[in-house]
Amino acid sequence: MRSPALLGLLGFVLAISTADAATISGTVTGPDGAPVRAAFVQARHAGMKMTVSVLTDNQGKYVVENLPAGDYRLSIRAPGLRAEPKSGLKLAAEQNVSHDFALQKGMVRWTDISILQGIQLLPNARGKDVLVNDCMSCHGFQGKMAATVRDHDGWRNRVEYMREAMRASLADRRGFSDQQAEDVAFYMNEMFGQDSTLPRSPTEMPGYKDTLTAIPDEALRIV
Ligand code: HEC
Repeated sequence: MRSPALLGLLGFVLAISTADAATISGTVTGPDGAPVRAAFVQARHAGMKMTVSVLTDNQGKYVVENLPAGDYRLSIRAPGLRAEPKSGLKLAAEQNVSHDFALQKGMVRWTDISILQGIQLLPNARGKDVLVNDCMSCHGFQGKMAATVRDHDGWRNRVEYMREAMRASLADRRGFSDQQAEDVAFYMNEMFGQDSTLPRSPTEMPGYKDTLTAIPDEALRIV
């Protein structure tokens, strides 16, 4: 049996969550002026530290709906393309604001690709298997590793930090040995250390194009 009280409560919650309901929309075009499909548009509410991400459609259009009023920073993520973020975008309740982006050519960075692409493209060397099997179960290599340059001791230190903080999965008794710790620190130093020989862009790796997968239209509706 449906409870009228519960339905009333649900209606109330919906009413507050859409009361402000401001919208940001616009079009994203590339260096050639053509619409850019499947670019991430991210609206970050400064006060709430809340980010809403949407994708552009086949016409390069995007809509970020149901936003609470506030001060927003709008940025774009599209591998190989870049644009200055738009900061200080003020949204009043129920306001519709429009902002278009004209993207310029940029470099595809290691931080831009997916975990799966990274597993395929990062060179095989001592310690890669540890990184893939023992570390990537929790997080990727992009933000936590590829985004920072550290020396060998710096990487050893971060591995020890993980072994301590993530004891439940990275303790000796769980089969994670000192040797594996040393191997993965070695690999991270080879890839993301000061003397790394890793190409600056994953597009320089053989087989890069084969790692690009088509994004189906339904996926563009993900918010
Ligand atoms: C059980 C989950 C888990 C596992 C397994 C794990 N990590 Fe982490 N890792 C985290 C979390 C959560 C954070 C964020 C915590 C923080 O930044 O303090 C993190 C942060 C990091 C950072 C960033 C630390 C910093 O100072 O910015 C590095 C580097 C890192 N992990 C490397 C590794 C490596 C290498 C392995 C494999 C040996 C690994 N992690 C395994 C969960 C895990």
